[in-house]
Amino acid sequence: MSQIDTWHFPRTEQANMLITALESGITNHLTLFAPRRMGKTEFLLQDLMPIAQKKNYIIIYINLWSEQEDPGLVIVQKLYEAILELNNRKHSLIKMLEPELKKIYMKGTLPFLGEIGTEVEFKKKKDPDAIGTINLNLLIDKLLQVLVDLAKNRTPLILLDEVQHLASHKKFLPLTAALRTALDTRKVKVKVIFTGSSRQGLLRMFNDSKAPFFNMSVNVPFPTLDIKFVEFILKKYYQITKKKLDLKLALQFFEKLHFNPFYFRNLIMKCLFHSMNLNDAYPLIESEISEENNFQGIWSRLDTLEQMVFMEIIANRNLYSVETLKTFSELIGEKITTQKVQTSLNRLIKLNLIGLEGRASYFCENDLFSDWVKINKL
Ligand SMILES: Nc1ncnc2c1ncn2[C@@H]1O[C@H](COP(=O)(O)OP(=O)(O)OP(=O)(O)O)[C@@H](O)[C@H]1O
Ligand SMILES: [Mg+2]
Repeated sequence: MSQIDTWHFPRTEQANMLITALESGITNHLTLFAPRRMGKTEFLLQDLMPIAQKKNYIIIYINLWSEQEDPGLVIVQKLYEAILELNNRKHSLIKMLEPELKKIYMKGTLPFLGEIGTEVEFKKKKDPDAIGTINLNLLIDKLLQVLVDLAKNRTPLILLDEVQHLASHKKFLPLTAALRTALDTRKVKVKVIFTGSSRQGLLRMFNDSKAPFFNMSVNVPFPTLDIKFVEFILKKYYQITKKKLDLKLALQFFEKLHFNPFYFRNLIMKCLFHSMNLNDAYPLIESEISEENNFQGIWSRLDTLEQMVFMEIIANRNLYSVETLKTFSELIGEKITTQKVQTSLNRLIKLNLIGLEGRASYFCENDLFSDWVKINKL
């Protein structure tokens, strides 16, 4: 389990609710979405995991971003780790694959050793000189089965963090399909909580009828933190400094930060370490957000039409109306057709700045970025 963070505001009720839902069997797969740094990973590790551990689940936490080029590798590693904890290598399949699994494990953790292929070799039991091969995707299926065999009356609970990464490239399609089959065939025996930070990425994975995870999981809300979180953090601040920060003002800033706990904590840290008040510290946080996320760089890499399309979307205006097309044409100095707008839109979607839900409902993926555009560019 991860270390206790005394500034962690517990979300026990939400964690209990999810575990209870999984236990009830109403669904075996859940998906949590929230934008970057809203506290998904902390929630999984610090709120949900301890409860699941008490209930005797076998917890396997997998962050697909930890092996961006080869997410299959980290899945194999984590399943293997869980198996090792359970059985001291007694399972026959593990005995046979162990040398190779070890290599995968080492190569995965030491990337400079080079990439492994999608085929894994192993020595055959009956004839030690003969070499067999197993596909990495099939290996995931096998490891999952071993896990289920060894778990006996316990239930494996996989926490698959940053799952939208699987939708980021065509080359991950076979892995994603294999994962779906492996999980679907053990639906009741293995529970899964997926989390993701790109709304569009998750839609692409779960909502498109051609997507490999289509209808596989139930979306559950990940509520934003509220006044209780702000009070909790202000109390911590008071315990250290014996000074009070204004709750109403702190709440206003929390709201301006779109309820992002990470940046709110940074704001309070500014007050703490630089003896600043909230009003003076807030603009510094705003500039840190834009610098750290390179908002100016992202903006300058868009061409004029893409920038204009983005602005129309955040202003909630109709992109294809006659007036809008006329304005675009006038400002750019050439005729702008719906086709050109569509091309710009596609690029904004590809860059993960804009998402599309349903047929024509566009949304901005990053509220902090759209705020920055509103303040600096409109
Ligand atoms: N419940 C909480 N109490 C206090 N601070 C929190 C809480 N949740 C998140 N934070 C703060 O926000 C930071 C970001 O949280 P976390 O890494 O869990 O976000 P995330 O949603 O997983 O982001 P990403 O999508 O980028 O992985 C934490 O490091 C912590 O500082
Ligand atoms: Mg995370």
